[in-house]
Amino acid sequence: MVQSRKQNSSSGSSSSGLGARGIYENLREQIVAEVYGRGDVLPSARALAVELGVSRTTVTSAYEQLAAEGFVVIRHGARPRVAIKIAHSEPGDLGHTAAEPHSLSAFGERLRSRAIPMRVASEKLVADFRYGDMSASDFPTLAWRKAMNDAALGRPPKLSYGDPCGSIRLRSALQGYLWRARSIRCEVGEIVVVNGSQQGLDLCARLLLDEGDGFAIEEPCYPMARSVFEMTGAIAAPVEVDAEGIRADLLADVGARLAYVTPSHQFPLGSVMSMGRRQQLLGWAKEKRAYIVEDDYDSEYRFDMNPIPPLRALGGASNVIYIGTVSKTLSPLLRIGYVVVPRELQEVFAHAKRLTDRHAPSLEQEALATLLETRVYESHVRKARRQNARRRAALLDALQAEFRDLVRVEGAEAGLHVVVWFHDTPPAMAASFIEKAASLGVGIYSISPHYFDQTLDFDQTLDRSCLGLVMGYASLTESQIHRGLKLLRRAYEEATGSGDVS
Ligand SMILES: Cc1ncc(COP(=O)(O)O)c(C=O)c1O
Repeated sequence: MVQSRKQNSSSGSSSSGLGARGIYENLREQIVAEVYGRGDVLPSARALAVELGVSRTTVTSAYEQLAAEGFVVIRHGARPRVAIKIAHSEPGDLGHTAAEPHSLSAFGERLRSRAIPMRVASEKLVADFRYGDMSASDFPTLAWRKAMNDAALGRPPKLSYGDPCGSIRLRSALQGYLWRARSIRCEVGEIVVVNGSQQGLDLCARLLLDEGDGFAIEEPCYPMARSVFEMTGAIAAPVEVDAEGIRADLLADVGARLAYVTPSHQFPLGSVMSMGRRQQLLGWAKEKRAYIVEDDYDSEYRFDMNPIPPLRALGGASNVIYIGTVSKTLSPLLRIGYVVVPRELQEVFAHAKRLTDRHAPSLEQEALATLLETRVYESHVRKARRQNARRRAALLDALQAEFRDLVRVEGAEAGLHVVVWFHDTPPAMAASFIEKAASLGVGIYSISPHYFDQTLDFDQTLDRSCLGLVMGYASLTESQIHRGLKLLRRAYEEATGSGDVS
């Protein structure tokens, strides 16, 4: 660490002949930017002088200036330290004056003005119902560690870049898995291993959409998909979702080149696309020569229902780009997903993936291949399904116990989240409810950002007029869920000023 900082601090220094002023400025900038943390020990004047090829007096004079300004503390016989309290500047203040930002590409400008705000997970909550988080205790640590060890030890004699579409071993294992678990028959060459579904979506966006193109997207939808398509300059055409999935009958009028759908568990409402809708959607894509991006993100979790084959397996081999992920079965941190592309897109996907990042990390690919080949993956999925069924039951019980008829739960038959609608509670209450819940240690998340149109009321009989939450439960223990719901009830009562709601 110190080594790299030293290298950093000296970059180009000896050749550029940094004087005391230059050394002072470099160090000051690094302290302000927190390259060196508060209280960190800095290199001794002697060591830094040797490294920079300058005299010790030069470095000492830079340190003295930093000490005079309160950035470092110098004590006789000890190495200088970064001061604990620095009055002069805030982190990130590098002394640059505020200037007009440089202009970016059209993509960059769109991103600058319309990016989805990043949420930082809070470790402090009693129960965080944030969707997407998974429990670390569910991860098959021993099996994964062994598979990673084997992958590291079995490395080839030469370290060369791999196939951009992924290791043949992993793709063969995925081919078998997709056939067994999802009824998808495809060739190994049609599979591209990606860094999570998100990269699959990004590749689709860049390869299939141009500025001004229309794309159809479910309303409400997965915002990370909408955003990645919109950032190409394409224009979203939100299409209503009902209990059978996207209203495929409305697609004829929207003029889209591509439709993004989540048929096995609509995100976020949770409906499962009916067979009729699937056929209608496929018919639309064939007629319009459009692509369907089928996001099968959590299809492993079905609780009270029989599976329906994905679009890709229902005659969608030439129009459907199927995307799967291990983010819901193993961990979102692994960043492994897979895309099954139509044959005619194989080559262009391979080139795009290669230009993006060469290929997904090899050791992780080999480790996942081992888990799939040995069927450890499938037995892990069964275990995770049982575990999450328990969490889901706990959540449904707790919602019933704490809120009774005040809420309606939607989309609980599959997946790792539910939508909870609070009757007679206007959506405008969401902010104060969320804030109150957070103050009591509960993380909750409104459904509103999933809607493209924040005002449109598609179905007056349904819930757009009341407050809705997307509640994930896969990272929580059953007792956290129960405790969280008790606190949530208190938060609700306090935020709405209602009395005892149970
Ligand atoms: C609809 C949907 N698709 C895909 C994903 C997974 O994305 P990734 O594979 O990039 O982690 C998520 C994660 O929350 C999701 O909600």
